[in-house]
Amino acid sequence: MVGLAERAARAAGELVHRGRPERLEVMATKSSATDVVTAMDTASEELLVRLLRDARPDDGVLGEEGGATGGTSGITWVVDPIDGTVNYLYGLPGYAVSVAAVVGAGAPEERPDPRTWTAVAGCVHDPVSGRTWTATRGGGARLDGAPLAGPADVPLGEALVGTGFGYTPQRRAAQARVLSGVLPHVRDVRRSGVASLDLCSVGSGWLDAYYERGLQPWDHAAGALVAQEAGAVVRGLAPDEPASERFCLAAAPALAARLGDLVAGLDPLREEEA
Ligand code: IPD
Repeated sequence: MVGLAERAARAAGELVHRGRPERLEVMATKSSATDVVTAMDTASEELLVRLLRDARPDDGVLGEEGGATGGTSGITWVVDPIDGTVNYLYGLPGYAVSVAAVVGAGAPEERPDPRTWTAVAGCVHDPVSGRTWTATRGGGARLDGAPLAGPADVPLGEALVGTGFGYTPQRRAAQARVLSGVLPHVRDVRRSGVASLDLCSVGSGWLDAYYERGLQPWDHAAGALVAQEAGAVVRGLAPDEPASERFCLAAAPALAARLGDLVAGLDPLREEEA
């Protein structure tokens, strides 16, 4: 399964990287004016769906741009055709294709909830650098075939922390408040605009931690498996809560506990979006 995830992610990565037009325009907006779709997001998702369904016609597919297609095998492919669409739109060299196979996703017409599913294989491919992260549940995580070191369990004050922002003004205002409370307690903060790569960076030890409220399932399904299989704790806002749209935190165990407590005490949406 991970081989298929990698083949599909590489093919879609090649399409979006080589095929990026000089002048790329916003084709549509979704949750807000900042939540954009380009023609290449759609083309990449069409290619992913075709490759996955051709290879495994009984599996379902859940894609960022096209919603859900049902299957009978119990496996659902959760795909982000371009994670980091805003970077891609501007020509910034940071975006990725993310492909994960999950079990327990439920019926395709229901709103998928990552708290009920288990990712079994995943691939995040960065077509700009050519790097490819892969992971299988219980089988470890790799970057270009080499096992990942995993994150170091550093004190909070020495942690380089990645985060990201959602697209609605209300969520952004809440995220800004959390960020202003986190920043004085950590070494520094990074916002790459690519959640899947942030999670892979935690797995690679390039970031000590990553947190974000409001990720969609396709943003984190593959990257969370990579981080987890590399030795990170991947969780929700409460220590025993799985990662979901509500919250996703990835770090080595003691740092995850410290950062999770800090963010939980600051987050104005913790009750509202529970
Ligand atoms: C976005 C990116 C970004 C994160 C946003 C996501 P998209 O995904 O992963 O880093 O902060 O929450 O929506 O829209 O580019 O696929």
